[in-house]
Amino acid sequence: MRLANKVAIVTGGARGIGQAIALRLAEEGAQIAVCDVQHSEETVARIEELGRAALALKVDITHKSQVDHAVEMIMSKWGRVDILVNNAGITKDGLLLRMRESEWDAVLDVNLKGAFLFSQAVLRPMLRQRQGRIISIASVVGLMGNPGQTNYAASKAGLIGFSKSLAREVASRSITVNCVAPGFIASEMTDALTQDQKKALLDQVPMGDIGLPSDVAAVVTFLASDDARYITGQTINVDGGLVMD
Ligand SMILES: NC(=O)c1ccc[n+]([C@@H]2O[C@H](COP(=O)([O-])OP(=O)(O)OC[C@H]3O[C@@H](n4cnc5c(N)ncnc54)[C@H](O)[C@@H]3O)[C@@H](O)[C@H]2O)c1
Repeated sequence: MRLANKVAIVTGGARGIGQAIALRLAEEGAQIAVCDVQHSEETVARIEELGRAALALKVDITHKSQVDHAVEMIMSKWGRVDILVNNAGITKDGLLLRMRESEWDAVLDVNLKGAFLFSQAVLRPMLRQRQGRIISIASVVGLMGNPGQTNYAASKAGLIGFSKSLAREVASRSITVNCVAPGFIASEMTDALTQDQKKALLDQVPMGDIGLPSDVAAVVTFLASDDARYITGQTINVDGGLVMD
């Protein structure tokens, strides 16, 4: 097991990609705090079935007081934080001409400010430990753009710039900061797309197939492990070849 006795936080772990990440980290031995605005009991029960400890914390990651309180609870239970996965994210799509200010703010608040707040809250314990992993789930949309997603693309591109800057701030303390950029992954977020939208997306994917939450979880687990000790400030695309740098 690559993550025995590590403590990991997964935001948005109640379902979808976040749930797959939480389960995969637990399979590798980590204890997991699942932080979500929804109930995370199902994820926690599945982690406990794997024989690992887990904590369900109801947190709206856009509120600093809730984020700080969650990290305090995790520290009082386990005394350390080794891995933070900033996974929680939302979409509020629409062409820019018609986008409401509230739709812009909501997406930037969850996808970017939430990652800022959680990263800041775990940084002190990680600096004390002189060890840590911060992994944020960006998107290929942050690299290539997508009509109707200016808010989402800005938030995900922002997450990549944020991670590179933080990576430089903390590299000397053996804390790595990386992003994983999924392409088109089967989840409730993409279930909302029409058949025509799904076909148009798949037509652009060289591998011609939709990705699975477990494909993203595998890369996150690698970045969280000692195998990725010397990798920081990077974005790894998990997209069937959609974006090739
Ligand atoms: N599904 C895809 O194709 C795809 C592609 C690229 C990137 N992503 C990214 O992967 C991540 C996970 O996506 P998913 O498809 O599993 O989405 P999802 O909608 O299934 O799950 C997102 C989770 O985040 C939680 N969440 C939302 N707002 C929150 C808040 N304010 N505080 C705490 N939790 C909150 C939700 O309750 C939910 O459990 C997101 O960041 C998304 O942008 C997804």
